[in-house]
Amino acid sequence: MKSDTPRHFIDLWRLDGSDLRVILEDAKARKAARRGWPKGRPDEDHPARDRTLAMIFEKNSTRTRYSFDAAMRQLGGHVIISNAVDMQLGRGEPIEDTARVLSRMVDAVMIRANVHEDVERFAHWATVPVINGLSDKGHPCQILADLMTFEEHRGSVRGRTLAWVGDGNNVCASFIHAAPKLGFKLNIATPAVFHPDLMDLARAVEQQGQVTTTEDPREAVRGADCVITDTWVSMGDTDHDERIEALEPYQVDERLMGEAAKDAVFLHCLPAHRGEEVTDAVIDGPQSLIWDEAENRIHAQKSILAWCFGAI
Ligand code: CP
Ligand code: NVA
Repeated sequence: MKSDTPRHFIDLWRLDGSDLRVILEDAKARKAARRGWPKGRPDEDHPARDRTLAMIFEKNSTRTRYSFDAAMRQLGGHVIISNAVDMQLGRGEPIEDTARVLSRMVDAVMIRANVHEDVERFAHWATVPVINGLSDKGHPCQILADLMTFEEHRGSVRGRTLAWVGDGNNVCASFIHAAPKLGFKLNIATPAVFHPDLMDLARAVEQQGQVTTTEDPREAVRGADCVITDTWVSMGDTDHDERIEALEPYQVDERLMGEAAKDAVFLHCLPAHRGEEVTDAVIDGPQSLIWDEAENRIHAQKSILAWCFGAI
């Protein structure tokens, strides 16, 4: 990597496990250091003082939008938020030009894009760090918040077993990317028709990752320390009825949770569709960590931003 190449945060499989570990530990320390503080008070070290983050959304968002905004405020920086449709991007201005223009105006850009290649093109032309705030191929910020949440409650993820049940989607992809980097085992259960990306699986094997796939949710969950699912119909998916039908046997209910380790936890990136991918009893039950998980989006992203700015 050229020394002047910005520190992009786009695909976990491209990053060093040691950097991911630094980000996770910084996030935990920052969270602990500000316990009890009002949410708008900046951290003492202000690692983003005088920095501005631009956010571009091609798709809807609640958590990513609010958590990055709150994160920048807590880091002592500023944000500019736009929906892509309101920008010239929405009228066909090339993404390459947008990347070069924004690079002259802000210190980093977070983009939530329909098509992953657009995030990569943006980063190629940007001269400031670019963060993937979700694409069709990954959701790396979410996975750092999820792993942070697991570790807060159950200790290091290294050597532990996480089970993904449902659609082999973008969030699943980032778990596959993270598994070899942070040394956890990932068991994935999906219907054959909605299997995870084969390139991701092949790369995980190349990187000595322990990632298994099956069509049987019970097999994936058996003895797992953590059970994770996500919506069956992601933003941009058009085959709603086909998905609901194929994924119905993959609902995470109390019986399926009963196959996991006794102290297993449940994660879901949200938004959830209770009664589809997960029952009320599980998502609102004692094993569910979803509210900590949502809060941790702020803490994990503060450390992702600090890393992008070279402050950690
Ligand atoms: N989990 C997540 O990224 O949520 P939003 O779509 O609300 O940002
Ligand atoms: N897989 C979901 C995640 C939403 C945060 C989607 O892409 O819509």
